[in-house]
Amino acid sequence: MNTLTKLALGMMGRLRPQPPRGDSPASIALPPPGKLGGMPLMEALSKRQSTRDFAPDPLPLAVLSELLWAACGKNRADGGRTAPSALNAQEMDVFVALPTGAYRYNPAAHSLDLVASSDLRRVTGYQDFVDEAPLDLVFVADHTRMALVPAAQREAYAYVAAGAIAQNVYLFAASSGLATVIRAWIDREAIADALGLSHDQQVLLSQTVGYFKPAR
Ligand SMILES: Cc1cc2nc3c(=O)[nH]c(=O)nc-3n(C[C@H](O)[C@H](O)[C@H](O)COP(=O)(O)O)c2cc1C
Repeated sequence: MNTLTKLALGMMGRLRPQPPRGDSPASIALPPPGKLGGMPLMEALSKRQSTRDFAPDPLPLAVLSELLWAACGKNRADGGRTAPSALNAQEMDVFVALPTGAYRYNPAAHSLDLVASSDLRRVTGYQDFVDEAPLDLVFVADHTRMALVPAAQREAYAYVAAGAIAQNVYLFAASSGLATVIRAWIDREAIADALGLSHDQQVLLSQTVGYFKPAR
């Protein structure tokens, strides 16, 4: 769907999910992520970039597993994560919009939990490529976990935490030959509605990930 249509539907409150393309299992166990591979860090930084042309090909489960672990997975026995958070509030939830459904990443179990049996990729942003790329991540702050953070700082700190996760995704993508772009041009109400979020959950950013579209 083109951007103008999306903007018009958004203004009318009618930017809505599509039926799922295939079964939507209630939970997806992710395989253990490989933690020793990848490109040297300085090379990945040299390749980090935003891309807006994606092939529709799905990411294999092993790649999805490593992507999510790199984003904000558990990397220490004490429950620490690959991305920082103020006072270790770990307030960010990463939702994953797949053609088969929308899932919340569970870092402790390293699994995906179904939140909506629908294809809500098109709802995750006004740009047309988000509809057909194989997955769109949505970064959501759960304010109930930020009780120790001064109220006036909560939103700012949550955006910083989302930015750290986004950069982890950028570096994983660079290292793995994947395309990605972080996006703030999104309809936060439409996304919150499609994901069934509560008032304590704030949609911050979205990020598309997939394979590069082959040059014609
Ligand atoms: C907070 C933030 C919001 C952004 N929002 C969008 C967006 O909505 N759509 C988009 O295509 N790119 C978006 N970008 C990506 C920037 O356009 C991109 O990072 C910039 O053009 C520099 O290009 P590079 O990432 O390839 O270095 C955003 C980047 C940031 C940091």
